[in-house]
Amino acid sequence: MKIRVDLNLAVNDNGYGILIDSGIISGGYNKETAAVLSSAGLNLKGKILVVTSKTVEGLYGNAVSSFLKNYGADDFDVMVLPDGESTKSLKYLSDIHDRLVENRLERSDFIIALGGGVIGDIAGFAAATYLRGINFIQVPTTLLADVDSSVGGKTGIDHPEGKNLIGAFYQPKAVLIDVGLLKTLDKRELTNGFAEVIKYGAVLDAGFFAYLESGYAKVLSYDEGALTYIIERSCGIKAEVVREDEKEAGLRSVLNFGHSLGHAIETLYNYEIIKHGEAIAIGMVFAAALSKKIGLCSEETVKRIRNLIKNSGLPTDIPDFTPEQYINAMKLDKKVSEKQIKFVLVKDIGKYEFKKLDFDFILGFLNENRKLA
Ligand SMILES: NC(=O)c1ccc[n+]([C@@H]2O[C@H](COP(=O)([O-])OP(=O)(O)OC[C@H]3O[C@@H](n4cnc5c(N)ncnc54)[C@H](O)[C@@H]3O)[C@@H](O)[C@H]2O)c1
Repeated sequence: MKIRVDLNLAVNDNGYGILIDSGIISGGYNKETAAVLSSAGLNLKGKILVVTSKTVEGLYGNAVSSFLKNYGADDFDVMVLPDGESTKSLKYLSDIHDRLVENRLERSDFIIALGGGVIGDIAGFAAATYLRGINFIQVPTTLLADVDSSVGGKTGIDHPEGKNLIGAFYQPKAVLIDVGLLKTLDKRELTNGFAEVIKYGAVLDAGFFAYLESGYAKVLSYDEGALTYIIERSCGIKAEVVREDEKEAGLRSVLNFGHSLGHAIETLYNYEIIKHGEAIAIGMVFAAALSKKIGLCSEETVKRIRNLIKNSGLPTDIPDFTPEQYINAMKLDKKVSEKQIKFVLVKDIGKYEFKKLDFDFILGFLNENRKLA
């Protein structure tokens, strides 16, 4: 399955292909992959830096070396970074820059980001900043990276004062999603990525949401057909949104459904204990309940969102911080004013609405609704 993200930019042609299949990396030479690499204009005879993490290198390092040789590349180096969010730092960014300089990569050379969202974000940002931008491709290996972080061009690192504070919009030249790589991903990581999949259905595609309601167990038992389908649909939806609004001037913020409270939860946990998908799962239930409170959607809509999240094994209850702590954490968000926050709400399954809500109102609602399950 091939999807193309065409970005309507005045100066550059920033469009790129997303190839989704099983065996892209580990299944030997394939004409379709060769076509995507060739239409991306990548110089496989030049130098390549593969950036990956320890776990992924252990599992797929050899497969990626064979993959590169199969497509005619022989001048590549593999840089292995530690696993975990703390890798998205200035220190490791600088280490990648050092390696690029040492290896003398030029503008016509490229980086491969092989890993989850952490690797995709930092390697993409290294590509954006080295020589004012060299080519890179995304080879995501977690469900979250397959359906979300590898598509859309948000790259960056964290700052001690907050997540993703330093970064750039910088699009890859191609995204190669090998669904077969998910078989080694642990169940909690798979479920974590599934939260973002639910998000697409909940606010943008009612038919897809209905599929998830009946098919979630298949997906979460690593069924390759079901995984391929949900990845295709999620990338298709994200590609459409990014095509309309690459730099989040409007429509793209619909993808923040569940993220207002979700980010606050992650902040209060100091980005430990809870995973991003788990936090936004709680945030989606909260946003749906808020939508019902202001008369935007029915109880049935809230129930369907809550049930799918719960059935998937994702959390729905708001963790035990005080409502005031949540409000203060939400106020740290760059996109809020002193009194109000722009929320993505749900009108019906597959339909969203943006609304500015007063913090006082949210505080009252949090006080009434600590338990949403
Ligand atoms: N750029 C964006 O648009 C965007 C969107 C959402 C999230 N993100 C970012 O993504 C990051 C989270 O990404 P993530 O959830 O993929 O976490 P992650 O990159 O930390 O990966 C999770 C764990 O899974 C391991 N792993 C990866 N692939 C594996 C495989 N195939 N088999 C076994 N283990 C494997 C990794 O080594 C790691 O330990 C966050 O930093 C977040 O800010 C970015």
